[in-house]
Amino acid sequence: MSQPDGQSNTLDNLLTESRTFPPSQEFSAQANATSALYTEAAADREAFWAKQAERLDWDTKWDQVLDWSDAPFAKWFVGGRLNVAYNCVDRHVQAGHGDRVAIHWEGEPGDSQTITYAQLQREVCRTANALAALGVGAGDRVAIYLPMLPEAVYSMLACARLGALHSVVFGGFSAEALRTRINDAAAKVVITCDGQYRRGKAMPLKANVDEAVAQTPSVEHVIVVKRTNTDVAFDHTRDKWWDEARAGQPDTHTPQAFDSEHPLFILYTSGTTGKPKGILHTSGGYLTQAAYTHHTVFDLKPDSDTYWCTADIGWVTGHTYIVYGPLANGATQVIYEGTPNTPHEGRHWEIVQKYGVTIYYTAPTTIRTFMKWGPQIPAHYDLSSLRLLGSVGEPINPEAWIWYRHNIGGDRTPVVDTWWQTETGSIMISPLPGITPTKPGSAQQPLPGISAKIVDETGTPVGHGNGGLLVLDEPWPAMLRGIWGDQQRYRDTYWSKFADLGFYFAGDGAKYDDDGDIWLLGRVDDVMNISGHRISTTEVESALVSHPNVAEAAVVGASDPTTGQGIVAFVILRGGTDDTASGQTALKQLREHVSHEIGPIAKPRQIMVVPELPKTRSGKIMRRLLRDVAENREIGDVTTLADSSVMDLISKGLSKTT
Ligand code: WT7
Repeated sequence: MSQPDGQSNTLDNLLTESRTFPPSQEFSAQANATSALYTEAAADREAFWAKQAERLDWDTKWDQVLDWSDAPFAKWFVGGRLNVAYNCVDRHVQAGHGDRVAIHWEGEPGDSQTITYAQLQREVCRTANALAALGVGAGDRVAIYLPMLPEAVYSMLACARLGALHSVVFGGFSAEALRTRINDAAAKVVITCDGQYRRGKAMPLKANVDEAVAQTPSVEHVIVVKRTNTDVAFDHTRDKWWDEARAGQPDTHTPQAFDSEHPLFILYTSGTTGKPKGILHTSGGYLTQAAYTHHTVFDLKPDSDTYWCTADIGWVTGHTYIVYGPLANGATQVIYEGTPNTPHEGRHWEIVQKYGVTIYYTAPTTIRTFMKWGPQIPAHYDLSSLRLLGSVGEPINPEAWIWYRHNIGGDRTPVVDTWWQTETGSIMISPLPGITPTKPGSAQQPLPGISAKIVDETGTPVGHGNGGLLVLDEPWPAMLRGIWGDQQRYRDTYWSKFADLGFYFAGDGAKYDDDGDIWLLGRVDDVMNISGHRISTTEVESALVSHPNVAEAAVVGASDPTTGQGIVAFVILRGGTDDTASGQTALKQLREHVSHEIGPIAKPRQIMVVPELPKTRSGKIMRRLLRDVAENREIGDVTTLADSSVMDLISKGLSKTT
């Protein structure tokens, strides 16, 4: 079977881990999760999900739980009607929780805001009215290009309220990346801000929008939130300040109910080709699974918990576990604008202490960064409020898991390692706190209601102790409903590998241990995972070759102690190689060029100039061999190369230039 080459060393270490941590009696006694969930779901999956859908307020109840007759296009809660924003906001106010804090917002420079559910309702209504006044209606697309500001949440929920689809574009993406996403979705409105705080500095953001919308015919209006007071260019026919757009708009709005399958949002993610995929999610099923998983996996008690998910709103984690899941459940949460070391490396723990955070959800790369900074930093703060920790984005190595539980969780909290994807919409594989004895490094079991299997290349399930490919063999409520504008690509990407069996292929390798617990082993395709963010090798390669000095490029993800993988590029320059100072400047410019084309997260860690690239006879680049070079390993089998002397040439050339 295909293995995610290059990660095997770390993964072997991962698989020798045998410690387990049974839940404490105290936690189990109060846990939301019960083992009955597994039996109920196994007895009747659809009845189980119908029960979970009762967490929401439906304007019209569904008459069919699942319609899978047009597979792989699922319809969940068929005939049901609801308003997603009403479910996340208004109903809590109506239930008498208007004074409950929805968001403790903490700005990077130290300013803060406390937003109750009643305030959130007014803000969302006012924003919805403002968007409607600009002509936004059901089915329209709105691009949101904002950092972690309350206005990002108001904007997303305002879209949901109107039945418009939001397409949130991460604030770290470039003008070019923004432009292609706006054009793919033909967004009518863009919501952005003047600038964003990043590591103590105000960085311009509106300028990227100006560059992008110069070539986006669909955009009629740009709404600009004032955050950093950075000077911006302003086109008065197109641009409107946030305050100006909302001035005079009432803070009440009657929500309309939409079909359960009404589209909710598009979120772009990298695939194996250069063009990002617009993952489409709809309303009733998505919100049901978001609310259920947030309640069960994070054990949320809305009256007493303060929850904090450190993801950015630009990624699916921010959508499901900052906006939709927590707010559907009436949670009180922290949203932090900035980076974890601004102005000091204890910033997260200072925030945990300040708000008495009880549930904390972050990514392995962040945990490894905290490890690097040292345990003395969290030790300085009172973290005794924490009662549950979560991890997401990539496999967590056992040392990081143990460090997290010990130094942050005081050896007391359960740690849930949650596997899911932009496409799955919600958590799919995770231990249940209070039920599952946890194992450092393993996501363990599909949640009640979810079915996942590890299979070989023929689709046959592998036995305990064996590895293979992770598939999802039953539809689930929060599953993607396709790729925006390209349903053929949807079928090809996820459903063609095991077409006869009807399995969704997740793109991840995985292994069962002897107890049948699942260990994720990383991607088996050309998708890299940099700090928990998906970037395709082809995307970076096309950015590189779009530079006039580059003749050819190949990109690999090489293992990196902090970010999981780091981007290493091999380029053939036009006019040959050059190891002089001007050659070094040229490489620096190339890195900047990639950052300009995609965004700083895609900037290669290292660029190596080579005379040739290793290719098979059919012309496919053998990234496996380049990964050997990037990770300083002995070079593997070269017999399938068209020209087997290429690797010698590359190695020789590198010993000369580096
Ligand atoms: C890919 C999905 C889900 C939100 C963040 C990333 C990897 C994610 C885990 C985990 C091992 C994980 C997979 C997956 N991944 N969580 N707990 N253990 N791997 O969303 O950008 O859609 O990426 O992230 O490789 O396919 P995404």
